[in-house]
Amino acid sequence: MLSAKKRKTVININGKIIPPESANVSVFDRSFLYGDSLYEVVRTYHGKPFRLKEHLIRMEKSAALCHMKLGHTVAQYEKEILKTIAAYRAQPGKSNEDVYMRIVVSRGSGKIGFGLKNLESSADFVIIVEPISMFPTPAFVKGTKLQISKRIRNHPKAIDPAMKSGNYLNSLLAYLTAADEGYDDALMPDQQGFITEGTTFNVFYVKRGIVATPPLDVGILDGVTRRAIINLCVELGIPCREVRFPKEYLYEADEVFVSSSLKEVLPVLDLDGKKINKGNAGPVSATLKAAFADLVKRELNLK
Ligand SMILES: Cc1ncc(COP(=O)(O)O)c(C=O)c1O
Repeated sequence: MLSAKKRKTVININGKIIPPESANVSVFDRSFLYGDSLYEVVRTYHGKPFRLKEHLIRMEKSAALCHMKLGHTVAQYEKEILKTIAAYRAQPGKSNEDVYMRIVVSRGSGKIGFGLKNLESSADFVIIVEPISMFPTPAFVKGTKLQISKRIRNHPKAIDPAMKSGNYLNSLLAYLTAADEGYDDALMPDQQGFITEGTTFNVFYVKRGIVATPPLDVGILDGVTRRAIINLCVELGIPCREVRFPKEYLYEADEVFVSSSLKEVLPVLDLDGKKINKGNAGPVSATLKAAFADLVKRELNLK
């Protein structure tokens, strides 16, 4: 694995581009002490991020859900992100490379203790821009193999999944168990056994031509890609419903696919060791994958 310096990672901390080897966060930062932070991830297409504003508006909603005062407006964060992406692409040999971008906003740092009176700084932000050359992975091209986790998704009355906080330990543990047992990743049920979403992605299934996905109020992240797919279904005349369902509906589905800004539309070929659509990507997933690629092209004015 190459170091961040060799990967040519570009880091922006509170508006300053810092060499990756000297980009540090204080041990008193609340993101480190408590996971008291928010984040968003996008990738670029020909250097342009897809629906960046929507991600930043979601970050504002996440901030409201955890009573965090963001230090900057959506427009200011957007400007800093575009500046960091441009700095990455300004490096020798990188002008045509697409990137992974993560923005993390911490509530700040100060004395140890939950109380906000301990804060000695306002919300800090870090932007990390990395090569996205790990894509396309074999799973990205062909499809993926998932486990239904025994670990439940956070209850909305605990750490609300609608809030994209830096506190991902629950999902990370579901991922680690799945990886340990030979799967690429995991889907998580709620306490009643209804499927919610994956560790870092939303989920859909197709049965007799109808697309279904869990509703927001089951306790999931309002995925930017999920929304785009629901709208594409409307555009294409594919019936799409938001419904609660147990894991058995997925086992018996004609097709299952997952969505995220990095995975786009990714078919699930194997679930808990059971083949979906005989282990092949199905036609509706393929149609939506192509329609999503076309939407990105149209929206970002790409050739
Ligand atoms: C828990 C969870 N669900 C869904 C998603 C997909 O969201 P988006 O399509 O906005 O990338 C993510 C993305 O990171 C996520 O962490």
